[in-house]
Amino acid sequence: MVFVKGVLTSISLAIAAVASVAARPAQLKFEKRQEDQQGIDDTSDNGLTERVTWDSYTLKLDGERVFLFSGEFHYFRLPSPDLWTDILQKFRALDYNGVSFYFNWGYHSPKKGVYNFDGVRDVQKAFDAAEEADLYVISRAGPYINAETDCGGFPSWLMDMRSPARYSNEEYNANRKEWLTEINKFLVPNQITNKKGGPIILNQLENEYTGHDAEYMEAIKQKFLADGIEVPSIFNDKGMNNYFVNGTGAPDIYGFDKYPAGFDCSNPKKWATNASTEYMDYYAITNPEQPSALWEFQGGAFDPWNGPGYSACRQMVNEQYAKIYYKSNYGQGVRIQNHYMTYGGISWGGLATPSVYTSYDYGAPISEPGLMTTKAYEVKLQATFLHTVKPFLATEYFEPKIDNSDNILVLGRASIEAPTKFYVAHHLNTPSDNLDEFHVTVNTTDGFFNIPKSSKLVLNGRDAKVLVADYDFESQHLVYSTSEIFTHQDVGSYDVIVVYAYEKEEGEFVIKTGGKRNVKVETNDSVTSEFSDGVLQLTYTHPNGTTPVYISGAGKKNKDLLVLISGYETALLWWAPVIDKKKDTRVLINGPYLVRSAYVSRSSVAFTGDIDQTTDIQVILPRAITSITWNGKKVKLHKGDHSIWTGTLKFTEPEVKYTDLTKAKWKYSPGSPETDSDFDDSEWTTADRLTTNSVTTSDTLPILYADDYGYHTGSIWFRGTFNGSSEITGFNLTCISGAASAWMVWLNGEYLGGFDVGSQEFRNLDINIKGKNVISALLWTTGHEEDGGSNDAYKTARGFTSAKLLGLNDDQNQTASIDWKIQGNLGGEDLADPVRGAYNEGGLYGERYGWHLPGFPDSKWEDASIPEEKSRTGVSWYRTTFDVDIPEGYDVPMSLRYVDETKTRYRSLLFLNGWQLGRYANDLGPQTQFYLPRGILNTSGLNTLAVAVIPIDEAAQIGKLILEPYKVLQSAIPSVDSVESPSYQDRQ
Ligand SMILES: *[C@@H]1O[C@H](CO)[C@@H](O)[C@H](O)[C@H]1NC(C)=O
Ligand SMILES: *[C@@H]1O[C@H](CO)[C@@H](O)[C@H](O)[C@H]1NC(C)=O
Repeated sequence: MVFVKGVLTSISLAIAAVASVAARPAQLKFEKRQEDQQGIDDTSDNGLTERVTWDSYTLKLDGERVFLFSGEFHYFRLPSPDLWTDILQKFRALDYNGVSFYFNWGYHSPKKGVYNFDGVRDVQKAFDAAEEADLYVISRAGPYINAETDCGGFPSWLMDMRSPARYSNEEYNANRKEWLTEINKFLVPNQITNKKGGPIILNQLENEYTGHDAEYMEAIKQKFLADGIEVPSIFNDKGMNNYFVNGTGAPDIYGFDKYPAGFDCSNPKKWATNASTEYMDYYAITNPEQPSALWEFQGGAFDPWNGPGYSACRQMVNEQYAKIYYKSNYGQGVRIQNHYMTYGGISWGGLATPSVYTSYDYGAPISEPGLMTTKAYEVKLQATFLHTVKPFLATEYFEPKIDNSDNILVLGRASIEAPTKFYVAHHLNTPSDNLDEFHVTVNTTDGFFNIPKSSKLVLNGRDAKVLVADYDFESQHLVYSTSEIFTHQDVGSYDVIVVYAYEKEEGEFVIKTGGKRNVKVETNDSVTSEFSDGVLQLTYTHPNGTTPVYISGAGKKNKDLLVLISGYETALLWWAPVIDKKKDTRVLINGPYLVRSAYVSRSSVAFTGDIDQTTDIQVILPRAITSITWNGKKVKLHKGDHSIWTGTLKFTEPEVKYTDLTKAKWKYSPGSPETDSDFDDSEWTTADRLTTNSVTTSDTLPILYADDYGYHTGSIWFRGTFNGSSEITGFNLTCISGAASAWMVWLNGEYLGGFDVGSQEFRNLDINIKGKNVISALLWTTGHEEDGGSNDAYKTARGFTSAKLLGLNDDQNQTASIDWKIQGNLGGEDLADPVRGAYNEGGLYGERYGWHLPGFPDSKWEDASIPEEKSRTGVSWYRTTFDVDIPEGYDVPMSLRYVDETKTRYRSLLFLNGWQLGRYANDLGPQTQFYLPRGILNTSGLNTLAVAVIPIDEAAQIGKLILEPYKVLQSAIPSVDSVESPSYQDRQ
């Protein structure tokens, strides 16, 4: 790379070279800024509340500007309410100030008119957890949510609706009103506008609606209003479509969603689209009076059956992605950013749509078992910066002068409330791995500087930087810094600021000292300091670790300044928990794996958090604080130079005990008596429907769609009886179901094969030509389609579109020559188990008879072992009990892993204490490890495990099942109560 000094190319020239970067942003907002300066207050509200208002720059809460930095969390993907508190504490620790909740209609409603908000469905507990963690809530109750959920969050019973969903019509209106009435009972009292307060600050209408029915949107809006929603409404446009910006159905604040890296994790180095500059123009034209909002911005990616797995997604949407794409958003003026997902969780039971498997880890900042990732720490670096450096809230775009604009794009943002300027730099070709140097001319009240002056400023590969110039902070004045700012604080006798960049990169940090005489710099040899014209320049290389620079008498009233210069790896582990929200004060601590909170009481700070090893810490304490505790225990501190306290958090290896499942005693039972020709199916549902409301056309009658008979989840049995004759040579079945589904067929007890969806012909069969023949078919479903296109795709059938006897002519076949019976989960929509709910059980014999439940008497079952010694035909069930003992003060998230070399294809269901926490496909994967969340998992005693093995090929032999911790943390995890888990006896 040749570096040509002094050659300044304008951004628009650079853009001409890269077509995917949009044209130079319009200057529209500049004109409005002039108005602001003339004192015109253009703050808007929705006429119902002044607690949440907005202008073109930001939201304002009680008149205060905020960057709404929120993350998506789905309570329905973590069936253990006390863990909601744990996860939302982690949001707070990462300095999110908001959380976005989807509410899943189908999760609460197994049957028309039936709603359940108890136990794991108690959404009030989610609000309480958010409020405790000091997070604002964006509520998104649909009615449609998508979210890779079964029917996109519609209840399965809606599939039998005649009218189209997501449009205005009487039937759908009545149904969605039913849901909104129920969920609004929870939303309304949890709004910030209530007397006693509440966390909800914004409420979404529908989701990603592309159906163009403005009356429908308007009706949803009116329904929320009529029920008492007072906070501003929002709409999440599926991209930059200009839908519902103004007019009928438009919300108070419009915004859109974007997933620039795409969803193909199999190529993790590849990002689908470059960082954009289009958003800036788009907002300026589309909704110039509103803050720029990304209601969903990619935080990870979902992964399909047979995909590369979530470690690949986490690699694709990694911390480098977060640096570049998120900072690009800030550079474009985005001041509301919701990460989808920040914690993904588990699509347990039948929650998932077929495009995803059980884990919904999503490669999100916080992993499925609740662990920190590098991206989480990167997000924290950004969030804390955004919440600390206030002039970045309300800014206008300007075009800075830079060199190397062939390779580097710098977006300028000028504060409208201070002289402060921001320079957001990333590679013009977003995924570039090159090392490129550049200079920016910073435009300050102290003059113009071409920076850096004497060192190098680089972007080393996939990096992005927000540089700050002309910034008054605490008692100091920053002229500019080529290191990025994490945060700064007034700690009493001095100010402190933490800055960082990748290790070995050079940096310049320049403050104004004015005419002061007694300014003194104390630091080590790696930093040079130079005074000239009332300005002090520090020049340094970012270390492995932190270099302190103490500048005496630097600021107003000669206030000292401690500059802490960190290398990136060290910076990731700086935490700045808020200790006083009103005064906006924080305390700084470096080292721990997780710092959940800090409270000051008298002369001590009480930290809570988690460590994964013995950890050396550095703490910067406010004046008058002389001690700290960590999870209630006093920590011995040494006061080093410049009040940097050091200490050690000792990690004590816990005695974690859990059963070795490979040595456990297992019980076995065969589980598919339905294949026998004389099995009694007289109690089953007769398939007698001749019409359907499905969008799937049936070629033969009766309709053989499970949902039409009230069976919506998991495995479905079909039994067809026909009288044989010499003309009948076989039969033909055409199966429809989602990705990764499978079906198996038997005739008169004889296995005929196992298949993917589609058509199969069965000939040369051993048909009883003189009497009764029985076809048994077991369909393994993987959920229903979503309705992203507002075209009723969620009504796509699961079952058979055609069932014909071969050898008969069409006329003969038209008369129902096969009598069909159908059986899914016990009770259908009248759930046998309302506690675990609609998605937990399917129609396997063992599920119908409670074999998965704790307390089922399995003593008469055969003894068996896993790994299995025999290859077994038909469905097999295995049961065992096991112990887990995790001592108090530790978080040891546990998993169950299938270790399998079985060559024949099989599917498996895993039930922990009756909860279906895993669907495994040995032939597809990629998931082999299943999270067993605490609360469902008893971590101080006995657990019941039931595993169903469903061969697709004639027989299967399950390999090993292993209990395994993800990580051992000495932890301040809140206490987790056991989730109510009804036993077999409770069901009788
Ligand atoms: C919406 O209305 C605002 C204010 O009148 C206008 O500036 C903007 O262009 C409109 N947006 C669209 C997409 O019509
Ligand atoms: C300096 O900043 C002001 C806005 O504060 C802008 O109008 C002007 O164009 C900038 N000048 C340069 C050379 O960047």
